[in-house]
Amino acid sequence: MRMRFCLFSMVIFLLAALAACSRTYTGSSTAIPRLQKQGTATQLMVDGKPFLVLGAELHNSSASNLAYLKPVWPRLKAMRINTVLTPVYWEFLEPKEGQFDFTLVDGQIREARSHDLRLVFLWFGSWKNSMSSYVPDWVKTNQERFPRAQDKDGQGIEALSTLSAANRDADAKAFAALMRHIREADTQRRVIMIQVENEVGRMGDTRDRSEAANKAFEGPVPKELLDYLSSHKDTLYPGLRKAWEAAGSRTSGTWEQVLGKGARTEESFMAWNYATYLNQVAAAGKAEYPLPMFVNAFPSASGREPGMYPSGGPVPEVADIWKAGAPAIDILTPNSYDPNVVDLWARYHTSNNPLFVPEIGAPAGAHSVFYALGQHEALGFSPFAIDSLAMPSGPETPGGPVALPIARSYAILEQLAPLILENQGKGKLAGALVSPDDPPQRVPLGNYVLEVSYARMRRPPLPAPPKPAGGGPPAMPAPAPATVPAGGFPGGAQAAERAGALFISLGPDEYIAAGSGPVSVTFAPSTPGPPRAGILSIDEGAYAGGRWIPGRRLNGDENGQGQFLRLSGPAARNGSILRVKLYRYR
Ligand code: DGJ
Repeated sequence: MRMRFCLFSMVIFLLAALAACSRTYTGSSTAIPRLQKQGTATQLMVDGKPFLVLGAELHNSSASNLAYLKPVWPRLKAMRINTVLTPVYWEFLEPKEGQFDFTLVDGQIREARSHDLRLVFLWFGSWKNSMSSYVPDWVKTNQERFPRAQDKDGQGIEALSTLSAANRDADAKAFAALMRHIREADTQRRVIMIQVENEVGRMGDTRDRSEAANKAFEGPVPKELLDYLSSHKDTLYPGLRKAWEAAGSRTSGTWEQVLGKGARTEESFMAWNYATYLNQVAAAGKAEYPLPMFVNAFPSASGREPGMYPSGGPVPEVADIWKAGAPAIDILTPNSYDPNVVDLWARYHTSNNPLFVPEIGAPAGAHSVFYALGQHEALGFSPFAIDSLAMPSGPETPGGPVALPIARSYAILEQLAPLILENQGKGKLAGALVSPDDPPQRVPLGNYVLEVSYARMRRPPLPAPPKPAGGGPPAMPAPAPATVPAGGFPGGAQAAERAGALFISLGPDEYIAAGSGPVSVTFAPSTPGPPRAGILSIDEGAYAGGRWIPGRRLNGDENGQGQFLRLSGPAARNGSILRVKLYRYR
């Protein structure tokens, strides 16, 4: 009897194991990319190991033609880009309802494989920049079946309504077919993440005014959302919490009863409808192949009302609503064209949302990538429209695309990636982004506070040097400040004058520093002991296969005779990695 029971259990176990395999097996021996926590950081695991996305996004229409893309791939590879963010268009994927064409998808996977690149597919499904320009013509031309959002006059706009199960299900079906195909075709796991739709939200108005939308807006707030508000009360976005509490912290009622009247309530309503729509699309895709999935936002900004940016998109004001309505979406991400990325990224990097930067201008990205990876432990970074820069028809760079500032930044970060990944989530990384007019920034890291300045502004404030006993030699004059080349950095419009740096604490008195643009750093102890920090040594060098290869020792004019560390200064070439050892004295 016992034996029979054992045999029965074994058969059940084997059947269950087989079923699990048939769900996840893709003919690949490597693990499916996924997100995993390391300390406080979230890491993207690729082939079972942490992976840092040094990415770049193609321009919107580039992936509609494989021949156009052919010469782009090797250039991207030469720029040390390891991941290409590239669209998949619903109109090409499903030109006739139920008939799928994967030519563009397969062509890109093939190129990624032969250039040893990874891909993040951007699903241009129901919406791209709040509009529905990439839906197939059988959707566009059948307004009865696939209803559009409407304006205040009852006029349909060129954007599908979120309040339509037909819209949602058609999108989800196509997306599921895409994910099933990737699972089967991408045996090398070139595709590592998926962006679902692009910059969703209602642009030009606070909400959809179609009949279905009006009815839902006057109806009850869904219970799942109300439960979420109650159970996350203490961590809700302050504005949302205030609105809910001001209306009496109600656990039932219409949108206006629960959150009060106004544009923010209409934005919350739209956020719920986009979130739940995208959740069903993402969940249908994940049921086929569970890659990490994110959404990107056209961010809100102070003084901008919803509708001036897409109302209902995944902005911090309604991030709670997105988290409640779209558990199948792993990350809310900010498109980062606003120069104030310091505030923007702080609003997106929260305890339940890691930072991934899906779009930014390439010139600004060359500096701020160091800040994103250092200060926010971002799991990836991706300047937009990279092919326009990398191709000869773009602004030509002396030295070619490899000389572009972003390529030079990536050349450094590629070397540092293993060290960055090893140290994420452990309090060992920091970053700074500085401009000429900024006061020095105090960056606490390890046993010291790093005081970081833009080097052109002035010499860093020096600690008063101890008076040489017995009238020693006079102090050396400080070196001339570093300057940005006239006309700005090559390869694209000059970004606001900025410099970015990343720091890694290697031990109690040792740091790695790397960056782009002229940065000066002084050090002050932050733990008990002798009050002054001195520089024992600064070495420039490189990492090869994770091993430090020292170059020159920079203990002369380059560090003001031991007074500061300077990145991209006149002597420390742009592109170097510095390793500094400190000591303390009184
Ligand atoms: C943000 C969008 O997400 C991109 O697809 C593109 O349209 C850019 N804006 C245009 O600058």
